[in-house]
Amino acid sequence: MAKPYTMVPGFYTPAPDRYDRMEYHRCGRSGLKLSSISLGLWNNFGSVNVHENARQMLLTAFDLGVTHYDLANNYGPLPGSAEETLGRILDSDLRRYRDELVLTTKAGYHMWEGPYGDWGSRKYLISSLDQSLKRIKVDYVDIFYHHRPDPNTPLEETMGALADIVRQGKALYVGVSNYNAEQTAKAADILERMGVPLTIHQPRYNMLDRWVEEGKPSLCDVLLERGIGAAVFCPLAQGLLTDRYLNGIPSDSRAASPCVFLNEKAVTEDVLNKVRKLSALAGERGETMAQLALAWVLENPAITSVITGASRPDQIRQNVETLQKHVPLSEEEHKAIRAILTGEDA
Ligand SMILES: NC(=O)c1ccc[n+]([C@@H]2O[C@H](COP(=O)([O-])OP(=O)(O)OC[C@H]3O[C@@H](n4cnc5c(N)ncnc54)[C@H](OP(=O)(O)O)[C@@H]3O)[C@@H](O)[C@H]2O)c1
Repeated sequence: MAKPYTMVPGFYTPAPDRYDRMEYHRCGRSGLKLSSISLGLWNNFGSVNVHENARQMLLTAFDLGVTHYDLANNYGPLPGSAEETLGRILDSDLRRYRDELVLTTKAGYHMWEGPYGDWGSRKYLISSLDQSLKRIKVDYVDIFYHHRPDPNTPLEETMGALADIVRQGKALYVGVSNYNAEQTAKAADILERMGVPLTIHQPRYNMLDRWVEEGKPSLCDVLLERGIGAAVFCPLAQGLLTDRYLNGIPSDSRAASPCVFLNEKAVTEDVLNKVRKLSALAGERGETMAQLALAWVLENPAITSVITGASRPDQIRQNVETLQKHVPLSEEEHKAIRAILTGEDA
């Protein structure tokens, strides 16, 4: 039997009950289970951010049973620095728990100058993953994704690189992100022929952006039919689907920050109107707006996990609490939410 880790003052000891509150769902038809609430390191884990806050967020998440941590080569700022932050926190606190963690990274967006630091060539994917492994200071990641489709590289080449990465042991599973339904089905076919399953997709999905449900077949149809899991990004629409903006734009929020992916213009009266109504519905259920938004995504049977972002440990606590609080939405509540989102309730 493994010797229990003895508490040493000044050293991090994880909560002994960390697996009691979390739910773990099988990722598609694979054997890999993911925590239904995951943590993404896109914002607030870069070299420009306060390291101790990043550390507290990661440790808080781990203590609450979050096992799945999502990165990409370019997360920061500066690009690459979120992976370095994770490497530093593994060194200081979490390396002995490496086998309790699912660490992911990606390549597909611009990372370095010249023709080999962007898109989907074999050259880019394999060299980028080698760089990521050095920054995180691990021998392998659990999941490696192609970050976005590349219209100018044969899909066979991109998928071939993913299959080789698995065979080389540099990633245990592979996935794609931002691929539409048709691209996903093709990628899954190619990988299957190479003997490597497409284990996971990472799409954007939240109450305000439901593209994964649209079309015939929809992305959700393809994922369910082929047994591919889904870890959803921006489940809170970068914070719009929380109480963050209901009384103006706080100076410490993402919309007020230099982040180019969310600015004050996104906080429109239309969005606020919807969020106020959804928030009232959440309140009647004894949930916060964020908890309703996360639970709503998780009720979709195609979804394995929500990759949440955070700027402070309390947000992670509140988000994980979703699992204790949430009672499945009734058909009437689903209808009411749909009506709010489409504006049909007005
Ligand atoms: N594959 C891709 O192309 C792609 C693209 C984007 C993201 N991602 C992944 O998805 C992850 C999550 O994206 P995201 O950060 O946009 O997710 P999100 O969960 O939609 O938004 C996170 C933001 O919402 C606010 N928030 C979170 N919990 C809250 C709570 N309980 N109460 C109030 N506000 C709360 C915080 O904003 P404040 O900072 O204002 O406090 C936080 O930074 C990323 O880290 C990354 O790993 C992937």
